[in-house]
Amino acid sequence: MQHPVSEPNLPVSEACLRNQAPIADVLAQELEADAFVLEIGSGTGQHAAYMTRHLPGIKWQPSELAGRLEGINGWRQRSGQVGFLPPLILDVSQDLWPVKQVDAVFSANVVHFIGWPQLRSMMTGIARVLKQGGLALLYGPYNYAGQYTSEGNQRLDQWLREQNPEAGIKDFEQVILAARKEKLRLLKDIAMPANNRMLVLQKY
Ligand SMILES: C[S@@+](CC[C@H](N)C(=O)[O-])C[C@H]1O[C@@H](n2cnc3c(N)ncnc32)[C@H](O)[C@@H]1O
Repeated sequence: MQHPVSEPNLPVSEACLRNQAPIADVLAQELEADAFVLEIGSGTGQHAAYMTRHLPGIKWQPSELAGRLEGINGWRQRSGQVGFLPPLILDVSQDLWPVKQVDAVFSANVVHFIGWPQLRSMMTGIARVLKQGGLALLYGPYNYAGQYTSEGNQRLDQWLREQNPEAGIKDFEQVILAARKEKLRLLKDIAMPANNRMLVLQKY
């Protein structure tokens, strides 16, 4: 899903290029201008670069699995934004997360990329690090009542399961239930381009 790039050493995800502007619009609406945001599964680091450029008051903490920080560091260097913090190692399936408390958590295209045990750990971790009233914004495709919302999502799901039998697009209803168990309630389910959604959860 990540492609080699035009610029040496900087990974580029085409999907990121397409979705970053609509995502920034939602974040601008939902977050305080000076929010401290933990990003989970930052991938290339493009979202960190774009969001800190377009939401200049924000403090953005990218994170990724060990061994996957190089591209994010590259984007950070190129962006030069003060709000773009050095990336941290974070595996959602681990109990220890490298941050104590944040105003918000953002994660794009990770929920469908991981299995249910990891997703449950992710919800537990999010609830632990979020301040009371803080928001978790989970961007990506979801199924509703067990149905795909597009043929493209169905193909994506098939591809994901071929890579990792535990991965796959999750049912919205199940995700909301898993969130509820951690005292994260659904505030909004926002339609995004290309049959994606932004789930906005709040810690209560
Ligand atoms: C489809 S990519 C999305 C990357 C980026 N957020 C984006 O939207 O382009 C999924 C990301 O989840 C990360 N990931 C997979 N398992 C993870 C885990 N257990 N904990 C944290 N991140 C994980 C991968 O390394 C990968 O970068």
